[in-house]
Amino acid sequence: MKALVTGGTGFTGKALVRRLIDAGHQVVALDYKEGLKTQELKEWGAEVIIGSVTETDVVAKSVQGVEIVFHLAAAFREMNVPDSFYYDVNVQGTANVLEAALKAGVKRFIYCSTQGVHGNVDNPPGDESSPIQPADYYQQTKYEGEVVCGKHQGGKMKIVILRPTAIYGPGDHERFTMIFKRVASGMFPMFGAGKTFYHPVYIDNLTDAFLTVMQDGVGDGQAYIIADQEYVELNDLVQRVAKVMGVQLRVPHYPLWPLIVAGHVCEKACAPFGLTPPIFPRRVDWFRQNRAFKIDKAKRELGYQPKVGLDDGLGRMYKWLCQEGYLSKPSGSKPSGCCR
Ligand SMILES: NC(=O)c1ccc[n+]([C@@H]2O[C@H](COP(=O)([O-])OP(=O)(O)OC[C@H]3O[C@@H](n4cnc5c(N)ncnc54)[C@H](OP(=O)(O)O)[C@@H]3O)[C@@H](O)[C@H]2O)c1
Repeated sequence: MKALVTGGTGFTGKALVRRLIDAGHQVVALDYKEGLKTQELKEWGAEVIIGSVTETDVVAKSVQGVEIVFHLAAAFREMNVPDSFYYDVNVQGTANVLEAALKAGVKRFIYCSTQGVHGNVDNPPGDESSPIQPADYYQQTKYEGEVVCGKHQGGKMKIVILRPTAIYGPGDHERFTMIFKRVASGMFPMFGAGKTFYHPVYIDNLTDAFLTVMQDGVGDGQAYIIADQEYVELNDLVQRVAKVMGVQLRVPHYPLWPLIVAGHVCEKACAPFGLTPPIFPRRVDWFRQNRAFKIDKAKRELGYQPKVGLDDGLGRMYKWLCQEGYLSKPSGSKPSGCCR
């Protein structure tokens, strides 16, 4: 098949492009900026189109001859941008890709949404029917992207929505890597009780799900939470990371509310200067938003089975971080670690 992956040089997009090429598919990747990763994708055999999902001519070009679209491009961590930036990319951009795909006769459209559309899960574990209550503008616009998809449901082009939980694994040198780096120091400051639930999904488990919903008639018109089997409390998560690193970890606890206040103050203070705040509300939410889901629907209807468990996934990610030089040998670790 010929597939388009929007956001193809991102963490998830790149892993998906690799899987599709390995499975013998022809891949077009649409991405915002030229960079080292675009070169790598070209070397793998993908066609790379540079441009934004907000540009209708670029989008129209990228769907030519395509049978399936994986729409992953999203404004995600952009700081110091107006809310309209998130709307333009995540809502209008999704509408642009959908409309161009319809016009070009694309058969299937897979929208990568997020668990974040459910915001804080009040009665964990939640599922796809849990209340939609996005807690920030990113989550809100990802949900509005789902609504745009909903308007095109039931037509000739089949649409499937995946809501991944927190994606981690080799290739992510930014988000989850921060946890490894902090753990490597031997001390992880925990704001609050550390009993908040965190639900990871290992990158290969997620790409398995993407490949499953490529097939005709699989998941049409539905939304699925895609997650690992296991969710954990934050206290447990950081200790499990410490274990794979061979680090003796201290986890001092601090009250959460001063951090919440500081997050808001920092964000407001940095905005006029165009600076990225050291802490901001979305980062603080990590300590307090419960994320825990059942994955029964994806198992039942897609045959989804997360193959890589948490300890295995953390070990693989640690090995990759060491190999790529993102981590040096953690202080106090046993010499058995990969960073010797
Ligand atoms: N990471 C998670 O834990 C998580 C959890 C749930 C859902 N998701 C969803 O999963 C998808 C992939 O996330 P990720 O973690 O892989 O993020 P990522 O690494 O930031 O990838 C996003 C990609 O989209 C591209 N992009 C951004 N704006 C664009 C635009 N206007 N036009 C074209 N491309 C654009 C980015 O390009 P540049 O790098 O050049 O800006 C980047 O390559 C997103 O839809 C996200 O909402 C992520």
